[in-house]
Amino acid sequence: MLTIALSKGRILDDTLPLLAEAGIVPTENPEKSRKLIIPTTQEDVQLLIVRATDVPTYVEHGAADIGVAGKDVLLEYGGQLYEPLDLQIAKCKLMTAGKVGAPEPKGRLRVATKFVNVAKRYYAEQGRQVEVIKLYGSMELAPLVGLADKIIDVVDTGNTLRANGLEAQELIATISSRLIVNKASMKMQHSRIQALIDTLRAAVESR
Ligand code: ATP
Ligand code: PRP
Repeated sequence: MLTIALSKGRILDDTLPLLAEAGIVPTENPEKSRKLIIPTTQEDVQLLIVRATDVPTYVEHGAADIGVAGKDVLLEYGGQLYEPLDLQIAKCKLMTAGKVGAPEPKGRLRVATKFVNVAKRYYAEQGRQVEVIKLYGSMELAPLVGLADKIIDVVDTGNTLRANGLEAQELIATISSRLIVNKASMKMQHSRIQALIDTLRAAVESR
């Protein structure tokens, strides 16, 4: 069995057409089904439906052979994973943002984010002392209510920032989703996984 971990929402929406080009089609709609293991038209391929931030965990531990995860999630996760293919989907930017026109705070900067490791690394590289405040969502709220001076989050259109009186400031990384592969699976099922990577690469390049 080849097991592929995906998250609902934009990654699933954008990955299913690519998998279809490799002849892998779920036998029921994963967005509607309450099942977390979804069979596909290839009886030796199944999908696991997991949270976006959990995809690398499933793949690194071998509970899934393959997964699709945003580069933001992978930068935060670290871990030992192969990352053989940029799927060029779910493109956005990982950025710092703050209140429009707000002066740089005196003293230690407070940064709210779900990307705690990324934040610590980013400011450590600048030799800057910061207090990183872990949040799980709605990061944009933090500067508005005085919880933090800045946030680090993904930005696409900028609409979410604008709607909350925030502006994007520094670019930390350009983001897209990547195919990730478990290291042991890559050895044990090499020809099969390599063939899938090659088909997906061709599908990505033909777009
Ligand atoms: P969860 O809801 O499980 O906490 P999530 O909200 O990060 O996770 P999604 O919103 O599905 O999950 O995002 C999946 C990936 O898509 C992110 O890791 C990021 O790489 C990318 N992404 C997030 N927001 C956007 C956006 N507005 N536009 C384009 N890509 C995005
Ligand atoms: C993501 C992210 C930002 C927003 C950025 O949220 O957390 O809030 O997109 O996109 P924008 O620059 O185009 O406004 P999403 O809409 O995926 O909702 P989520 O919080 O459920 O992930």
